[in-house]
Amino acid sequence: MKTGDKIKEEVKEKYSEVAKGNLKAIKSISGSCCGGDKVVVDMALKYGDADRDAIPDGADLGLGCGTPTAFADIKEGMTVLDLGSGAGIDCFIASKYVGSAGKVIGVDMTEAMIRKANENKAKVNAANVEFRLGEIESLPVENNAVDRVISNCVINLVPDKEVAFREIHRVLKLGGKFTVSDIVVDGEISDEERRDASLWAGCISGAMDRKDYLAVIEKVGFKNVQVTSEKKYDYKLSGGGGLYSITVVAAKE
Ligand SMILES: C[S@@+](CC[C@H](N)C(=O)[O-])C[C@H]1O[C@@H](n2cnc3c(N)ncnc32)[C@H](O)[C@@H]1O
Repeated sequence: MKTGDKIKEEVKEKYSEVAKGNLKAIKSISGSCCGGDKVVVDMALKYGDADRDAIPDGADLGLGCGTPTAFADIKEGMTVLDLGSGAGIDCFIASKYVGSAGKVIGVDMTEAMIRKANENKAKVNAANVEFRLGEIESLPVENNAVDRVISNCVINLVPDKEVAFREIHRVLKLGGKFTVSDIVVDGEISDEERRDASLWAGCISGAMDRKDYLAVIEKVGFKNVQVTSEKKYDYKLSGGGGLYSITVVAAKE
């Protein structure tokens, strides 16, 4: 089994290539979550037209697997944090909701993605959006600092999901909420599937069992954990289990 650091290195390498325009770096899922040339499943779930109007050209790389910002109940003046912000799609949508009195922070560990996101920011002059290079496991954000955390198809890529959800809990204000769209499974992922770096980067191999995923969220202290949308993909793991995109909302109380 690979170590978490090795997996992250490979994920970073692959998303660096994606940021530079090489979608073939990833083996996955047609035109969405995690992109890729080898089509296994179409994970795309698209935002409505009103939200899409806020997205500059080049910010939607087809890497998402849900529409978390649509479920995040974001209000004017809020501070929103997007984990694994990629080229910025969800940050630009959130930017419209928080307005000039609010702020959106996108964090991503891949330098080429941060560069691309900043190029996209310049296209729409989004003064209330800031992209920070950093890791979800040690977020470059203070304690109790944000009203909403959003994330689109990223936590499955993080080797230790408990650490990720603990960090989300740390940075949220009391009364704050997270809305995360992510991939989960309802069966076993084989060792062979776990070892395939392209399939990791393609958002399949790192996916957790759905019950375990929701249990981790409760374990770190979140309340009112709810699945607000879900989609089952037409894909069978080698061990027979199924693959889902879910959007989960929970509160820090
Ligand atoms: C599947 S893409 C999703 C990008 C974006 N959320 C979207 O919907 O287009 C995953 C992104 O998460 C970033 N990422 C993966 N693991 C990360 C980690 N541990 N810390 C920070 N960023 C990470 C990758 O660099 C990549 O940009």
